[in-house]
Formats: sequence, C-alpha cells, structure tokens
Amino acid sequence: MSSLSPESNRTADAERRKRLGQYYTGSGLGRLLAALAQADKAKTIIDPMVGSGDLLASCLEIGAKPKLVVGVEIDALALGVCQSRLPVASCLLGSAFDPDVISRLPAQGWDLVIANPPYVRYQSFSDKADTAHALPSAMQIRTGLLQSLQRLPALDDEDKQIFAHLVSGYSGLSDLAVPSMILCAGLVKQGGRLALVVPESWLSRDYATIVHYFAVSLVRH
Ligand SMILES: C[S@@+](CC[C@H](N)C(=O)[O-])C[C@H]1O[C@@H](n2cnc3c(N)ncnc32)[C@H](O)[C@@H]1O
Repeated sequence: MSSLSPESNRTADAERRKRLGQYYTGSGLGRLLAALAQADKAKTIIDPMVGSGDLLASCLEIGAKPKLVVGVEIDALALGVCQSRLPVASCLLGSAFDPDVISRLPAQGWDLVIANPPYVRYQSFSDKADTAHALPSAMQIRTGLLQSLQRLPALDDEDKQIFAHLVSGYSGLSDLAVPSMILCAGLVKQGGRLALVVPESWLSRDYATIVHYFAVSLVRH
C-alpha cells in the first residue's frame, strides 16, 4: 500500500504519465483507426507500446478475430491493466526498442501493427522511473532499433540498408514517436498494414521530415 497522500499519489501518477507519454487513445478514435486499418481481416495484430490496451481492445470490438494478438509495454502497471482487460492477448513487459524483447515476440512479421507511440523526448526520461525496466537512453534506443531491424524477416536486404540509414540519421531532437514509427513499420509483414495515431506537429516540425519520407515510401511499396 502506498504511504503517499492521495494528492501526492495523483501528482506521482501525472508525473509518471507525462514521463512515459501515457496518453491513451480511447475507444472512439481507437475503433475508427481499427476500422480504417481493416483490423477484422488481420490474423496477427501487435501494439508494441500497448499501454492499457485501448487499440487492441478496439480491434476486437470491431470484429477482429486474430489468432495472435500481442502487446508490448514498458510499464508493469499499464500492462497489468491490459492483461486483465484482454485475456486473449499475450502481453510482454519490456522496452519495444530492446532487441531481446523483439526476439521474444511470437511472430516477427505482422498483418497489422497498430500503435499510438509515446510522444516524449528522451531528455525528459529519468533514471528513477518506477517501471520494471529502466527507461532506455537515446543511444540505447538507436542501437537497439538498429539491432532489431537487422533481424526482422519482413525486411529484405535493401530495406534493411534504408532502415539502418534512417535510424542512424534521425535527429536527436526527435520525440520517441520517430523511432517508434520506424520500429512499427519494420514489424509489418509484406502486404500487412501499419496504423498509427500521430501528432499534428509532425506536419510542420523539421525533425518529422523522415516520417514524411517514410509514409511516402511505405505507400509506394
Ligand atoms: C500514447 S500511449 C498509447 C498506449 C495505447 N497503445 C493506446 O493507444 O492507448 C504510449 C505507451 O507507450 C508506453 N511506452 C513508453 N516507452 C515505451 C517503450 N520503450 N517500450 C514500450 N512501451 C513504451 C507508455 O508507457 C504508454 O503506455
């Protein structure tokens, strides 16, 4: 039981949510995105930053009946909520940028990758995070992502080279959503779908140019 006052608990919760970028999608937007992504046709679905499971729940609510549904989350509390809410989902605790976590996924290419990435900057991460796993540094995210992408079977050699170039080159000012988008794209299998909630700021910020490039090349593929 917490010895903090209810007021301190609320402040701690708000601070934790801010640090982890825990702003959940909710059912309205979640169902809309799931429907646009034709989740009902997907046999395998993953949300690599699943939070309490809003997007996976939305997929199931609109009629998806996947044989594999998986969520990854760095925060044990949020993942616990997801697990009890969605007993059909396999929930994995850890950082989505950790190559060991990615290698433990039951599939390496997915029909649908659906996510609302954390829009926080690395600089705001603190070592004292009360997650089960220490929050990764900017460097760990970049190197972890590079290692994971090299192992993903959904990418051919040319893709891997392009992805590696993009991962090595994205701006250090980027929020965590930029590497998240790259990871999510790498997890989509040939012919699969990527469905993301993205911030309006990506329309105007310089560091989001890479995201525009990505969106265009994914559509062409
Ligand atoms: C914007 S919330 C979205 C959660 C959920 N997908 C939804 O749509 O409601 C982003 C989630 O990413 C989680 N997160 C932050 N860093 C992460 C990481 N390195 N690996 C996995 N999850 C992470 C946060 O704890 C948070 O729950």
